[in-house]
Amino acid sequence: MNRRDFLLTLGGLGAGATAAGVGTGLLGRRSVASGTDRVRTIHLEAREVTWELAPGRTVKAMAYNGRIPGPEIRVREGERVRVVLQNSLAEPTTIHWHGVDVPNAMDGVPGVTQPPVAPGATFTYEFDARPAGSRWYHTHFDEHRQMDLGLAAPLIIEPAEKEAVGYDREITLVLDDWATGTGKPVPPTDAGTAGGRGSAGGMMSGMMRRGSGMGGMMGGRGMSDMMGRGTGPAYDVMTINGKAYPATEPLRVTKGERVRLRIINASAEHTHVVRLAGHRLLVTHTDGNPLIAPVEVEAVPIAPAERYDLLIVADRPGAWFLYCTEPGHVDAGERMVVVYEGHARATPPAPEPGVAGLTLWDYGRGRGRPVLPAPSASDPRTFVVALGGGMMGSDIWTVNGKQYPHTDPLRCIRGDRVRVVLRNNSMEAHPMHLHGQSFRLLSANGAPYASPLVKDVVDVEAHMGSAVLEFTAHNPGDWFFHCHKPMHMMGGMIAVVKIA
Ligand code: C2O
Ligand code: CU
Repeated sequence: MNRRDFLLTLGGLGAGATAAGVGTGLLGRRSVASGTDRVRTIHLEAREVTWELAPGRTVKAMAYNGRIPGPEIRVREGERVRVVLQNSLAEPTTIHWHGVDVPNAMDGVPGVTQPPVAPGATFTYEFDARPAGSRWYHTHFDEHRQMDLGLAAPLIIEPAEKEAVGYDREITLVLDDWATGTGKPVPPTDAGTAGGRGSAGGMMSGMMRRGSGMGGMMGGRGMSDMMGRGTGPAYDVMTINGKAYPATEPLRVTKGERVRLRIINASAEHTHVVRLAGHRLLVTHTDGNPLIAPVEVEAVPIAPAERYDLLIVADRPGAWFLYCTEPGHVDAGERMVVVYEGHARATPPAPEPGVAGLTLWDYGRGRGRPVLPAPSASDPRTFVVALGGGMMGSDIWTVNGKQYPHTDPLRCIRGDRVRVVLRNNSMEAHPMHLHGQSFRLLSANGAPYASPLVKDVVDVEAHMGSAVLEFTAHNPGDWFFHCHKPMHMMGGMIAVVKIA
């Protein structure tokens, strides 16, 4: 089933009508949206479902419109979007529009930007769709439960102007991890893998600390607990678009096609290192924002909440696995078949775990297009943010030694050039996400970048990893700046950026 079929089977979720000028691509013809070309109205219902991750593996889950991930919303840049959320759960919920510059009141942070939406109640979100790119939406209430249970989905904002990247078709892949209690737990991702210590740095330190398989030998999480790691759910199933292999949908391609993959890591804890056997990956966008030129690699580490747009050129007929190279992930289900037309009966070669010898993406390889408002000439207002906690297996996580809500806000004024220096004093990587606006990543682990990537999440590596980001405070309000691992966020690793 290709993306278009997938969307067609959403049936009944919306009128299927598209506004004029929207969805001219192969895949965008149907969406959950309906309405006029003035305001796009979308109806989402959050409710409990039973969901089959794979044959014989059915879980109680939470879904938007009955499916996991929730329906992909596709809109045109600048379009007015109105989302009516019906909460049919037995508990409160909210929606956060991750990577979208929404007005503060639409940001979906309970107790900060809105009261939680009570069971049985509705709430209407309304905002202009911008900036263009691969965005997503997810619950921001009790995330370590509700996100883990499935309340996340893609939000694709198609650019108003034609993009530089040419492609024949596209597909969105949402990666997620599940704690079902039915399988062998996957070793945790402790160290960052996406950051700028170089491909080897993060991966190596991660593997060394994991003791190269000793985790398994010592039985589940024993090793990591001894290393002073916090406790959390034991993830044992990994999915691509809500399904674990062999239930993952194959991607059918034709020789010569250029296929765009939009990959969203909705996992609570795990970094996924994505690879397509037999093929190179061209990285074109980081968190939805374009690079000046595509970067050719063999595998792409994607930290929680990060998105990467990748282009593959279908030039090697056969059948291949697209999979995650991290230890245990393939066995937990994180793989899907990419099969060329005319090769339906081919058997894909078994996935090779590990990244030895592969060219890996890291932040230092890409040059970001300067799509954000240009920084003012004035000196930046600088904040130093030290990330700590998790000592001796505790679930306390801190910003400058304090736990939210006791953390000090980062106070700035609209128009300020704001610089944030992040230092990680803890033993785990922290994918830090800023709400309300994207930032330029000036450096990671020291080396300044000539053409900063534009992102809204930066994975700050464990063990004194660092990152420096900068943005023009253009969106007034109180914005969460937090670790996107829900256990860490709920353990206190949140600061509020206050833009007056
Ligand atoms: Cu993707 Cu505060 O969230
Ligand atoms: Cu964290």
